[in-house]
This record gives sequence, structure tokens and C-alpha cells, in this order.
Amino acid sequence: MFQEDKLQKIAEGKAKYDASVEKALAKFPERRKRFVSGGGLPVNRLYTPLDVKDLDYDRDLGYPGQYPFTRGVQPTMYRGRFWTMRMYAGFSTAEESNKRYRYLLGQGGSGLSVAFDLPTQIGYDSDHPMAQGEVGKVGVAIDSLADMEILFGGIPLDKVSTSMTINAPASVLLAMYIAVAEKQGTPADKISGTIQNDILKEYIARGTYIFPPKPSLRLITDIFDFCSKNVPNWNTISISGYHIREAGSTAAQEVAFTLADGIAYVDAAIKVGLDPNVFGQRLSFFFNAHNDFAEEVAKFRAARRLWGKIMKERFGVADKKAQMLRFHTQTAGSTLTAQQPENNIVRVAIQALAAVMGGTQSLHTNSMDEALALPTEKSVRVALKTQQIIAHESGAADTSDPLGGSYYIEALTDEIQRQAEDYIAKIDELGGMLTAIEKGYVQSQIQDAAYEYQKSVESGERVVVGVNKYQVEEDNSGRELLRVDPSVGEDQCRKLRELREKRDNLRVQTVLDDVRQAAKDESVNLMPRIVEAVKAYATEGEICGVLREEFGEYRENIVL
Ligand code: 3HC
Repeated sequence: MFQEDKLQKIAEGKAKYDASVEKALAKFPERRKRFVSGGGLPVNRLYTPLDVKDLDYDRDLGYPGQYPFTRGVQPTMYRGRFWTMRMYAGFSTAEESNKRYRYLLGQGGSGLSVAFDLPTQIGYDSDHPMAQGEVGKVGVAIDSLADMEILFGGIPLDKVSTSMTINAPASVLLAMYIAVAEKQGTPADKISGTIQNDILKEYIARGTYIFPPKPSLRLITDIFDFCSKNVPNWNTISISGYHIREAGSTAAQEVAFTLADGIAYVDAAIKVGLDPNVFGQRLSFFFNAHNDFAEEVAKFRAARRLWGKIMKERFGVADKKAQMLRFHTQTAGSTLTAQQPENNIVRVAIQALAAVMGGTQSLHTNSMDEALALPTEKSVRVALKTQQIIAHESGAADTSDPLGGSYYIEALTDEIQRQAEDYIAKIDELGGMLTAIEKGYVQSQIQDAAYEYQKSVESGERVVVGVNKYQVEEDNSGRELLRVDPSVGEDQCRKLRELREKRDNLRVQTVLDDVRQAAKDESVNLMPRIVEAVKAYATEGEICGVLREEFGEYRENIVL
């Protein structure tokens, strides 16, 4: 990008600058011996064209909406449409969560994002012994189509797109969503949304898995095939780096392990005969927005460019949409502090701005009180307004890739991509992501990075305002916090008893047998049978129970 003579001139100027620095250091030593980004990358005192001398605009940056998509996936980006303001929400009963969704839409939220309680996430009904004490706690309790009908009551599913953070039982909740939309008069080919459906990161970092890898990947590729034919606007997976980063990975590892998961899903789908030019259009991603502003902007750009390269060069994908990395971002929950909760509003604003400057398609902003409890209506409103202020008042949405061309951002983008490619090459050497996970390679890399980060905080090298510096005496006892009514469990059990009394149990037995027969035959797509089962009001726990019997359960092998 720069002629040799220009670079020579800059090198001479840089040498003079370096000499001037020596003098300054004698008078004012720098506050740290070494400067490192939040994700562990070395940070130079200054960046110049010398740090990006090999940058080729057409090859490395290009234009928004065009390969390699470094500068964004849409030609006009946010000038055409803001990112979706999609607040992750859900707690207690479907009635309570429905109220919160309608509140968020009323406050200008432009998409829904369902948080399910743990029993739902691991395929147990609210009356299962394993569900004790967890019903409605970290998300909404959904046992059957009856709950889903309440959850989306009064919300037009032909107009609102919905994300569902559900993985192992994703097929069941997707089936319920299709059934609810049909009851509203909206056919499956008119709904839009996303299911997380990313089981590999559950093995790596999050833990809400049920079945072993092989049947889990079968369920995922069944969904790819079923949706490409029946639910064309549905994003069939949200390949997640969020939780990998929350577990303590570096920014480069977040990109590497997420895209390596993506490679494993593409491989699995190709193996069963699916076309990556088709299913690839509906793969989506989910990343973390952490504290180091510049590094996070560079991370998103590196991820987009690397995924485009992987789809085009590794898989020979020609379809433009299938080469695009379209992603959702959540600001980093792990950076929220219980101390001085209001400080979290500032952290979230910086993180959200990084996501926008990095070109996110959808965004959740954490609430200031989430280190203490699920967010109150007031704190979730401030979180949503943060997005609206960035959208309408900051100017950040008015041009595409505003930081593109910055020597620092471009140098970081290159370095993150380089490190991510090195990790992916290592994973390839190990035999692919599944093997790397089974060997504990990915988990150990994350644990090592988490340890380094924590050490830097404990030592005070990395300042956390209000926690290891600038502390104040404060009394949070009077603070309004959201409490989930403990009677939610009893309510759900009562609803389940009533449901089992009034439904056609013979029909339920038939549809559960159909699911079982399909589970036994890998050549049969499970989705149509699961749709019929939920329509007969078979519960999530009953359907997952049949699948547990047929597939068995995953047992993590602890690598010491
Ligand atoms: N010009 C033209 N068209 C445009 C445009 C522009 N500038 N901007 C957007 N569009 C189009 C898009 O192409 C799209 O149309 P299409 O579907 O036909 O392609 C439509 O407008 C909607 O735009 P997006 O698809 O970009 O936005 P969505 O919000 O619908 O989708 C996504 C974004 C990332 C692709 C999707 O997968 C998504 O919404 N993901 C959300 C995932 C999520 O919320 N996860 C929460 C997880 S919470 C969790 O796990 C944490 C917990 O564990 C703690």
C-alpha cells in the first residue's frame, strides 16, 4: 500500500521519533514495563505505515458487502439498517417473560432473545427431580407448546425475529416455535430467527450438553437440512465465541476456537451430503465484546476476513452470503463488577461501541446490576438506551468500518488473524476440533489464558476500577434487585399435571414412538417427527427422554 521511497522516509522519521522517546523516558518513565492488550497482545508505543507495510487494500480490506468482508457484510451497513437491538431476556414463567419481551419491544428493542432456565436447556421438565430449585431461575421455564404459546402471546412472529439460546434440545424448541407461529397463522417459511444449536462450545466451555458428539452433530445437521427446505429465513446455528471468551480465552483464541467449531459443523454437514453454498448462508456467529476497545474492533474484522477465507478456500464455497460471517455480540458479562454497579454502564457502553465499530449485526448490552442478579426493568432499559445513544447520537453508525485504515487497528487485525490461523492449523494437526476437545487441548489453552489474566488482576497490573483500585465503601443492601418467585416450580408442576390430564395421551405415545424410530435410523431427519410431537403437546422432557434412551448421554472426560 506504500511505495518503497515513502516507507524509507517514514523509517527515517520513526528513527528520529525513537530517539526523542529515549529523552522523554529519562524524564518520565512509562507507567508499565510492557503494554499488553486485554487479550494478551503486545501493544506498541506508536503505530505507523511501517507496521502495515504489506497491507494490500483490495486483497486485505476490500469493500463492505464484498469478499473478504473485512469492512462489513452489507454494502451500506448501518446507514441501511441499524444492528438488531436484541436483548437477551427470560426468567420465571412464560407469563412473566412475555411481559418483559413486550416491554423491551415497547422500549425500541428490535428483536427478541430468549433465555431458558437450566432444566429446559438440559432437556428436563420442571417436575423432574433434576429441575429442583432451578425452575425459572436463570431463564424462562418452557415444558411444552402450551408454555411457548404464552411466551409469544401478542407478539407477531411474522414481524419479530427471535433468537433462542438453546443447544442440546434446540430441535425441540425450534419445533415449538414453528408450531406457535403456525397457530398465529404464520407459516414456517415466513418466520425468522436463530437457534444457538452449538454443541461443541457446550463441551468446551458452557456445559449444557446432553448427548454424545455423534448424535448431537446429527441433530444439528438435521436442522440445517430441514430449515433450508422448510424455514429458509431461519439461522440454524449461532456458533459461539462468547462463552469461550467468558471462560478466559484471549481474543485470538475466541476467534480461532469459534471458527474451528464452525469448520467442524461445515465438515459434518458436507459429510451427510449437504451443500455448504446452501446451508452456509444460514450459519451465524456470536462473539463477546470485551474491554479492550481497539482489540475488540480488530477481532471482529479478523474473524470476518478469516471466515470468508475459510469458506472460499478451504470449502470452495462460491455463494457470497455463505462466505459471510454474520454475528451477534453480547458485552462481556465477566467484566461486570458487583462493586459500584453504575461503573458497569460505562464498561458496557465502551464494549457496545466496539461491537458497532466492528460491524455486528445484532447486539445485547448487559445491565449494570447483572453481577448481582437478573436485571430489573430499569437497568435493562439503561442497557437498551446505551445502544440507542450509540446508534443515534455517536455518529458511529454513519459510515462503514470507521476505524478501517488505522495503523493500529489494521496491525491488530492482521495479528489476531495470524494467531487464529496458527491455532486452527494446530487443531487440524490434532485431527480436528472434536479430537482437540476430547484431548482437552482447547480447554487447557483457555485455562492457561484465564490464569494469566487473573494473575494480572490479582497483581494489580491490570486495574479493575472499584475492585482492585479506587474502591469505595458502599452499601448495596437497599438496591432494587429482581427476585424470581420461588413458587415458579410449583406453578410449572401444576401446569404439567393439568396438561397431561387434558391432552390426548394415546396420540402422545404414538408421536414419541415415531421420534424413537427416527432416532434409530440416521438416514431419517428427526425434525418433522419432533414437530409432530410438540404439536401433540408431548413435553420437552418426554421428547428428550426418548432421545436420551436412544443416544445415551455425554460424559466429559476430565483431562488433568
Ligand atoms: N442492507 C440490506 N439488507 C440488510 C442490511 C443493509 N444494510 N442490514 C441488514 N439487512 C438485512 C439482512 O440481510 C437480513 O435479511 P436476510 O435474513 O434476508 O439476510 C435482515 O436485514 C436482518 O438483518 P440481520 O440478519 O443482519 O439481523 P438479524 O438480527 O436478523 O440476524 C444474526 C443477526 C447474527 C444473523 C442472527 O443469527 C441473530 O440474530 N443472532 C442472535 C443470537 C443471539 O441473540 N444470541 C444470544 C445468546 S445469549 C447467550 O448465549 C449468553 C448466555 O449464555 C449468557
